[in-house]
Amino acid sequence: MKHTIEMMISEQEINNTLDQLAERINAHYAHSERLLMVGLLKGSVVFMADLCRRIKGHVEIDFMAVSSYGNNMNSSRDVKVLKDVQSDIAGRDVLIVEDLIDSGNTLNKVREMLLLRDPKSLTLCTLLDKPERREVDVPVDFIGITIPDEFIVGYGIDYAEQYRNLPYIAKVVPLD
Ligand code: PRP
Ligand code: MN
Ligand code: MG
Repeated sequence: MKHTIEMMISEQEINNTLDQLAERINAHYAHSERLLMVGLLKGSVVFMADLCRRIKGHVEIDFMAVSSYGNNMNSSRDVKVLKDVQSDIAGRDVLIVEDLIDSGNTLNKVREMLLLRDPKSLTLCTLLDKPERREVDVPVDFIGITIPDEFIVGYGIDYAEQYRNLPYIAKVVPLD
């Protein structure tokens, strides 16, 4: 698709958002012993790198990769684990770190999967939230920026694997 990109959220705005998110997360986990931050590959890597450096105390990081695809049997989607976390999460305070929540299917399935492993607590953090696109309800504890239903890229988020390296978030605008 022929397209161009237009800056939507600047590096400065992203930094301010991360400062605010980290303040809330640090307050929430002030008494946690060994927080485990779990990022969902690949979109969350840039956000994870910037967010984890703002979190205080003993913090560990791990990653999961999942792919979601349509299920003909019903309107929901199946989520397949491509890479699991290496850590044993039983008894741990776990914070899932996601770049974007759209339909909610990815976060919902990952949340259900990890809850079965008996973490001490489980919270969800997303940099961006597109509530208009939600298909399943997911309780998200920490939300950075709520955005309209736009096609966005950058800061880890791709369009056909491109643009993850953009330091800001941009809107994809189709050209004809
Ligand atoms: C994107 C995004 C979220 C997910 C949100 O990931 O990074 O993980 O989709 O969509 P949902 O709420 O409708 O499930 P994608 O599957 O494109 O993989 P990627 O992170 O490797 O780009
Ligand atoms: Mn993703
Ligand atoms: Mg993607």
